[in-house]
Amino acid sequence: MNQHIEAAQLDGQTITAGSAAPCAARFEAVTKDYRLDKVKVRALTEVSCTILAGTTTFITGPSGSGKSTFLNILGLVDRPDAGRLELFGADVTGLGDAAAADFRARNIGFIFQSFNLIPVLSLRENVEFPLLRQPMSGRARRDRAAAYLEAVGLGGLMDRRPGEISGGQRQRVAVARALAPEPRLIVADEPTANLDTRTSREIVALLARMQAEFNTTVVICTHETQLIPPHSPVIEIIDGRVV
Ligand SMILES: Nc1ncnc2c1ncn2[C@@H]1O[C@H](COP(=O)(O)OP(=O)(O)OP(=O)(O)O)[C@@H](O)[C@H]1O
Ligand SMILES: [Mg+2]
Repeated sequence: MNQHIEAAQLDGQTITAGSAAPCAARFEAVTKDYRLDKVKVRALTEVSCTILAGTTTFITGPSGSGKSTFLNILGLVDRPDAGRLELFGADVTGLGDAAAADFRARNIGFIFQSFNLIPVLSLRENVEFPLLRQPMSGRARRDRAAAYLEAVGLGGLMDRRPGEISGGQRQRVAVARALAPEPRLIVADEPTANLDTRTSREIVALLARMQAEFNTTVVICTHETQLIPPHSPVIEIIDGRVV
């Protein structure tokens, strides 16, 4: 694999990578347009940036600036119209839909603003859900789900349903669900938007702790800049451009 060890362009500053920080994602002049009827809306304009592996990187910017578009492209949910995207050293720009879905299932976990848990399943079953497409025994799946629920501090509530826990606890379940398949990258779009300030800080701290413990790369988009821990890598997007 082609791992890049070099200076990263983050938040306008050049941050020199330490000993051997490989590149989780590299955007090269990525442009994205949406088409509404016949009108073209440019969401991203020639975005170039690097996200280093093993970091918790924040994407900030005002509403409508292109943060979700950036995350959707990063998570292979959407495709650039122009430019190039590399994930963990692999050029993923030209992947077909099936190959992109496969790459996504193997490597990327998602956390959403609205938690997106399945109400009729227990917390443990929710965390098991993304493991169903992995070749593992039912026993191994249940143990894995239990281990990640323990890791996010919900070991005692595994048999409850999402409707029987608080919003902050639901987002913890979503963190466990994203981690359980052991992806290399976790993409979180406004994961704290439905939470109070204290719970929001707890979720950001939990994500940072999980990033360190499980050596994944976490990318969080938020417009609440007060939630960003000091010295975090930040990519600011304004009007579809990295500033
Ligand atoms: N599906 C879509 N069709 C048309 N235009 C879209 C679509 N999704 C986003 N846009 C437009 O693209 C631009 C960027 O949107 P995006 O959702 O990426 O912003 P954002 O920074 O995530 O905003 P917010 O903070 O409100 O979530 C906006 O002008 C938006 O109106
Ligand atoms: Mg958004």
